Amino acid sequence: MKVTYYGHSCFGVEVKGKHLLFDPFISPNPLAMGIKMENIKADYILLSHAHQDHVADAHDIAKRTGAMLISNFEICMYYAKKGINTFRPMNIGGSVSLPGFTVQSVNAIHSSSFDDGTYGGNPGGFVVCTDEGNFYYAGDTALTYDMKLIGESHKIAFAMLPIGDNFTMGTAEAIKATEFIKCRNIIAMHYDTFDLIKIDKAKTAHAFEKKNKEITFMEIGETKDFFELKYDEHIMQ
Ligand code: NI
Ligand code: MN
Repeated sequence: MKVTYYGHSCFGVEVKGKHLLFDPFISPNPLAMGIKMENIKADYILLSHAHQDHVADAHDIAKRTGAMLISNFEICMYYAKKGINTFRPMNIGGSVSLPGFTVQSVNAIHSSSFDDGTYGGNPGGFVVCTDEGNFYYAGDTALTYDMKLIGESHKIAFAMLPIGDNFTMGTAEAIKATEFIKCRNIIAMHYDTFDLIKIDKAKTAHAFEKKNKEITFMEIGETKDFFELKYDEHIMQ
């Protein structure tokens, strides 16, 4: 699996030649100025919740690529009214099997409304299962005991967790989350984009290290191959 970071909470994950794009917020993000929007591939666009810093570019990328929008019912209907006609509405707890992967909608503790005030349903995260390994994309969330269910039900090879604090969990809670999901290989998201979520990366990395966990801060525009990860190595005893 190839993972590309587009800044903030936006990742592209390539699974079996299909491109999954999570929470596109690129064109309004000054830190992601180097990303060329027209080069972003998407067969599926997964949206965790309706906040602008997660959906800003969803409409335009869906229009250009014809990608299927995967999100909660309310968000799918919002974009359906704006002319996006390929979508898969879900809600928390449900799973969908698509070519090459299965995706489950899981709980997130947060809020969800569009910039124009439209209700955006419940916020969520996604667990994606493939025969190359499974991963968890948490969206914006607090630490929650529900994460234990993810660790009990799936072998998670790696997880994207928010660590910027203030609007989501911070470093200490993210470390606790690694125990709940039984995954020690974490990719950081939702930090540094705004003043309120600026973090000290060295301090965070050190805190993870002290607990024998790993956190990866990807460069914006960087692609990493997670295919070679033997995910057994990342399951804690
Ligand atoms: Ni949010
Ligand atoms: Mn956010």
